[in-house]
Amino acid sequence: MNQLVISCSLNPESRSRLLAKEIRKNLKACGSEVDFVDLRKTQMPLCDGSKSSSAAMDKGLNERIEKSDGIVMCVPIYNFDVNAAAKNLIELTGSSWTGKVVGFACAAGGKSSYMSVMGVANSLMLDFRAHILPRFVYATGESFDQDSVSDPDLQQRLKEFSDEMTRVTQALCR
Ligand SMILES: Cc1cc2nc3c(=O)[nH]c(=O)nc-3n(C[C@H](O)[C@H](O)[C@H](O)COP(=O)(O)O)c2cc1C
Repeated sequence: MNQLVISCSLNPESRSRLLAKEIRKNLKACGSEVDFVDLRKTQMPLCDGSKSSSAAMDKGLNERIEKSDGIVMCVPIYNFDVNAAAKNLIELTGSSWTGKVVGFACAAGGKSSYMSVMGVANSLMLDFRAHILPRFVYATGESFDQDSVSDPDLQQRLKEFSDEMTRVTQALCR
């Protein structure tokens, strides 16, 4: 089973990147091959709808998405949505997402934005027939130390999310 974890925050002190690292560890423990993309380290122009913006993107990114059975988007919540970098990635790579199992792990400033991934989840489902994992992780600042997930409850939720991601991906992509 090939899983791809994408860390979408461009903030050097990102909390969603800490979620991504925990999920990578958990998915490996479940027996998957796990690829990791960090958008901070990825060449990604703003999508303008032309072929040239896709061509200017990191070579191999489409292939890494296509090769995966499941994709975990680890996203910051900005303005009650995923951040623009996450959406830009989807705009640039589009049909490579076709048929993937997609899960979300979110870092947010407050509790009230917890449905913020639904817009992008709907678009992946309707545009690319992606299978959206009906469990996602949503975490706020108090669950983190400087460089780790400190809250045992969040650690447990990340484990359950990773187990579920593995179970559903295995079931759909055998
Ligand atoms: C431009 C901007 C918009 C934000 N909008 C929201 C929001 O709508 N809801 C929320 O709960 N937090 C919001 N936040 C807080 C971030 O979600 C929070 O800082 C989170 O840790 C960001 O993820 P990251 O640490 O992985 O970059 C916003 C932060 C920024 C910088």
